[in-house]
Amino acid sequence: MAIVIIRQDTKIDLWKKALLAANSKLEVYSYLEEHPKDRITMAIIWKHPVGSLDVYPNLKCIASAGAGVDYIFEDPTRPKNIPITRIVDPYLASDMSEHVLAVILAHLKNLNTYKLKQVENVWKPMEYQRIKDVAVGILGLGELGALTASDLSSVGFKVQGWSRTKKKIDNVKTYSGQDELSEFLQSAQILVCLLPLTPQTEGILNKALLSQLPKNAYVINVARGGHLVDGDLIMLLDNGHLSGACLDVYHIEPLPKAHPFWNHKKVHMTPHYASVSDTNSVIPQILENYNRLETGQELQHQVDMEKGY
Ligand code: NAP
Ligand code: GLV
Repeated sequence: MAIVIIRQDTKIDLWKKALLAANSKLEVYSYLEEHPKDRITMAIIWKHPVGSLDVYPNLKCIASAGAGVDYIFEDPTRPKNIPITRIVDPYLASDMSEHVLAVILAHLKNLNTYKLKQVENVWKPMEYQRIKDVAVGILGLGELGALTASDLSSVGFKVQGWSRTKKKIDNVKTYSGQDELSEFLQSAQILVCLLPLTPQTEGILNKALLSQLPKNAYVINVARGGHLVDGDLIMLLDNGHLSGACLDVYHIEPLPKAHPFWNHKKVHMTPHYASVSDTNSVIPQILENYNRLETGQELQHQVDMEKGY
């Protein structure tokens, strides 16, 4: 049994060292080095190159190094009968919750606009909003959305959330399904997207949905770029329906330099780093699954192949 790490960023060595630090007896390879393909039973991947997964005849688990798995379903060459696992981790959830809180407070207290004014040498006091007066709506009440919702509620926001199936979260008003989406949207002054990207949620942040938010609503997309119809957002920012947006994720990452988001005064961008898997925190759950593979036990945090998340 052996592990291969497949990712196109600069973190292969970091992951390899962290896996070996957790268990020095592991046989771990980078997909870029010479390695015995028939020994690989687990592939730990993040945004792998298309075609890099179907070369392992004994592969038994595709372990996403993050929470999202949309990029795996997008690869038509992936072996279809191999279970996919994903990361469910307290830091991944709390880092996201902290990011969303920071973005909301920066918006309510005009910090982004003040920075723009500062570079223009302009002194311009602006009205700010209080937490208790603001209703935040969260699309997706899973591992990240549910914690974000309850954390925002504990600091005093009015919080509502929407999911596929009905949820119960203390002090959070919950909605579910298409039938309740419009009612959920009507009062969401700040909309946070924490849905997985699936055929059902692709393009969900479009003109029809965003127009149902109250005037001056603010949109935060920390899920996937594919949820957003970029042109619809720009139109609703430019016509004054929306007051602004903070985006962490994009259709193409890094976002091409010519994209209008870069220079849009109402768009605040972060580079897909709202919440990142912490190797020390997530490697134990991946190795637990590796042991489970060896002993034939059911894998933890398996993705539902039908639902795609
Ligand atoms: P999760 O636990 O699978 O939760 C997904 C939530 O979305 C669930 O509440 C689910 O409802 C709901 N949902 C799915 N499809 C829906 C639909 N068609 N209509 C309504 N609700 C739907 O996922 P998670 O771990 O919270 O992660 C969410 C996403 O965050 C990831 O997929 C990833 O794209 C993104 N993410 C981004 C970053 C970043 O740094 N920007 C970091 C980590 C994750 P049910 O429970 O009722 O099925
Ligand atoms: C990050 O985007 C993740 O899905 O973990």
